[in-house]
Amino acid sequence: MSQKEIAVEMRNIHKIYPDGVVALKGVDFIVKKGEIHGLLGENGAGKTTLMRILYGEIKPTKGEIKIFGERVKFSGPWDAIRKGIGMVYQHFTLVPTFTVKENLFLSLLSINPKATIDEAIEKAKQVSKQTGLRIPFDRVIEELPIGVQQRVEIIKSLIREAKILILDEPTSVLTPVETKDLFEALLKLKQQGITIIFITHKLKEVKEITDHVTVLRRGQVVGTVETSKVTEKDLARMMVEREILFKLEKKPAKPGREVLVVKDLEVYDDRGLPAVKGVTLTVREGEILGLAGVQGNGQKELAEAIAGMRPVASGKIIIDDIDVTQLSAFERYKLGLAYVPDSRKVGLIYDMNIVENVALTNLYRIISKKSRRMKWGVAEKIASEVISKLEVVAPSLSTPIKYLSGGNQQKVMVGREIVREPRAFVVTEPTQGLDVAATEFIRKTLIHLRDEGKAILLISTDLDEILQLSDRIAVIYEGKIMAIGKPEEFTLERLGLLMGGVHA
Ligand SMILES: Nc1ncnc2c1ncn2[C@@H]1O[C@H](COP(=O)(O)OP(=O)(O)O)[C@@H](O)[C@H]1O
Ligand SMILES: [Mg+2]
Repeated sequence: MSQKEIAVEMRNIHKIYPDGVVALKGVDFIVKKGEIHGLLGENGAGKTTLMRILYGEIKPTKGEIKIFGERVKFSGPWDAIRKGIGMVYQHFTLVPTFTVKENLFLSLLSINPKATIDEAIEKAKQVSKQTGLRIPFDRVIEELPIGVQQRVEIIKSLIREAKILILDEPTSVLTPVETKDLFEALLKLKQQGITIIFITHKLKEVKEITDHVTVLRRGQVVGTVETSKVTEKDLARMMVEREILFKLEKKPAKPGREVLVVKDLEVYDDRGLPAVKGVTLTVREGEILGLAGVQGNGQKELAEAIAGMRPVASGKIIIDDIDVTQLSAFERYKLGLAYVPDSRKVGLIYDMNIVENVALTNLYRIISKKSRRMKWGVAEKIASEVISKLEVVAPSLSTPIKYLSGGNQQKVMVGREIVREPRAFVVTEPTQGLDVAATEFIRKTLIHLRDEGKAILLISTDLDEILQLSDRIAVIYEGKIMAIGKPEEFTLERLGLLMGGVHA
């Protein structure tokens, strides 16, 4: 292959984030001109990081990049845009209160200060015709469906004459019809010689639209293969294979009666689209049910609905035989439900101290029934219990939570639920971003709680965590449960297929 036929050549790319996270370890990534190249991998594999480097948004710690054979060093996205690279993020970068044409104009202005709005419209009309992507020029962005916003985002790149278009999980926000339209547009762009890098975790999409696919696992390339030469099974295996590093000591579960029951649950996401589509699950006393899946497949909405923080469209949530579907979060907490959200930024108030943060989910124990006042003495006692039980390292109870390390913050967030002795415990990404010691501590704590008879629903995108802790595993994909069963019933390959949307 001559240098000219290669659109992107990234060699030996390393990325260590400022906080020490090693996201990429010596990645080689080569994309041929005019192809659709898939980038596949689990959550945290490094896909977005690699593409942010290609788009000049972050700098590699080490490594070389060539675009159409020319060595480049980008100091920001503008450099990348000038070399013909465009990127469509999972979260868009449009100005929500501007119209479509104003956004396009802004985009064109950034490469040509003399551009006029008419030029922007003219160029966009051409692109629209070539790709079949229709957009309403006079509408305000924030009033448009997400699928249309995405089209504007793509056209925005194309009027800047992008030759290489990066799409980060573009179909995760689209309906099936919108996905079909997008794929048709991508094929048309390919015919015109545009190179497309397509990030996804959906195996069917890789097979359907890509020419080559590169699989990343834990910051390294597992392989680059010709799509027509591999099966979905091959890809699933490449994506998830690993050695199970350390096994946690764990007695066999002794599941008792049903504590948390979710029946035919339907829940909408923030945009009003169905996110949970008829989920049925049962969690018993003394067991951990692990819900595996790639981020953004309805896990967050499911957890919030169970916790009473998001309305239920239909279906039922039952705790200890009581239908709580219409009860407030506060009432559910009183009935013995506990919830750890997927982000500390959501669960904790950073300027508040440890006692206040612990009090947040223990209010029903702390507010005096008579005077309706806070009993701070009680709150302090509960907070001390959290500190000693979870071995939280902190200068004092009155230290603002923001001064604690991530691991200690997480311990507070988990600990304030544990000390309430909940019956049903919904935990989302309990060890996200924690070091090895804190991770092991939290995982052991969950096993201990299960041995005490708590019913635990563990929602995690970390497959190791699911495999280590679960007594039963369920896999969620696009808001539906793909399969549920004992860990022995799942090989890694089968898990990979199910997480990628293929029934196995
Ligand atoms: N801005 C950041 N700061 C620190 N760590 C990050 C940042 N962005 C991503 N990471 C970490 O880098 C790793 C790779 O993440 P990412 O590139 O987003 O993976 P993917 O897109 O494949 O899910 C993960 O461990 C993630 O937590
Ligand atoms: Mg990503």
